[in-house]
Amino acid sequence: MKLSPNDVCWCGSGRKYKKCHMAMDEKMALLHDRHLQVPPRELLKTPAQIEGMKESAKVNMAVLDAVAEKIGAGMSTEDIDQLVYETTTKMGGIPAPLNYEGFPKSVCTSVNEEVCHGIPDASVILKEGDIINVDVSTIVDGYFSDSSRMFCIGEVSEDKRRLVEVTRECVQKGLEQVQPWGFLGDVGAAVNEHAKKNGYSVVREIGGHGIGLQFHEDPWVSFVAKKGTGMVLVPGLVFTIEPMVNMGRHGIYCDEDNGWTIYTRDGKPSAQWEIMVQVTETGHEVLCW
Ligand code: MF3
Ligand code: CO
Repeated sequence: MKLSPNDVCWCGSGRKYKKCHMAMDEKMALLHDRHLQVPPRELLKTPAQIEGMKESAKVNMAVLDAVAEKIGAGMSTEDIDQLVYETTTKMGGIPAPLNYEGFPKSVCTSVNEEVCHGIPDASVILKEGDIINVDVSTIVDGYFSDSSRMFCIGEVSEDKRRLVEVTRECVQKGLEQVQPWGFLGDVGAAVNEHAKKNGYSVVREIGGHGIGLQFHEDPWVSFVAKKGTGMVLVPGLVFTIEPMVNMGRHGIYCDEDNGWTIYTRDGKPSAQWEIMVQVTETGHEVLCW
């Protein structure tokens, strides 16, 4: 749909197009002509949609806070699942993973050498020295949010603790690259560089994703990308930064029995943190963590 300068802007601000998104649309058209990968308008969230996503994120973060309060040795990953289900639904949300493409639980719980998509189970009891990623995703009013955190159970070995810390730093390094008219590849390159510098490797096959009106939207976010490549970061674009960092080699494999859980090929530990970030006119805003 082609708007005239005096039409009301498509974003719902109520302002005239020429006073709102017209300049941005023109810039995107120019970049598109230069064969850069420019996001389609549907991926750019309106202020109202961002508000909806923030409401969803409030629940998502409250759920992770509840997990942080309770998690410890002796707890099963099934207990975490129940806590996530109850906290989410009490707050008016729906756990996004539940029944998502057949996923049987409300949350992903990935322990030690499990890279991601671990399925909560009553027989998996957390013990001193474990590291675990709890990946929570929520739907509120049709809006999706998604973030994950690492937890160290009791005293954890120095090398595992460092993996957890460096992985968090990787997310921060990636986040610092999120600025309008930058490239998505700058994010992945910064993540990969920091991981490699610390002697770790980044999982290649699984990445982050756009999010908001659906659980997984474009773009797919690689964390081993090259600088200056990939989608142009246009204000309104929202995606996750969620690198999986392995202590050893980057190789992974999928559990053949459950079809979900991803493990490191070399059996060494893996860590992951996930945040949701929006590109803004001036930089970025973290929507969920
Ligand atoms: N939360 C995961 C992500 O970051 C998605 C897991 S899909 C599920 O993309 F079905 F396993 F939940
Ligand atoms: Co995600």
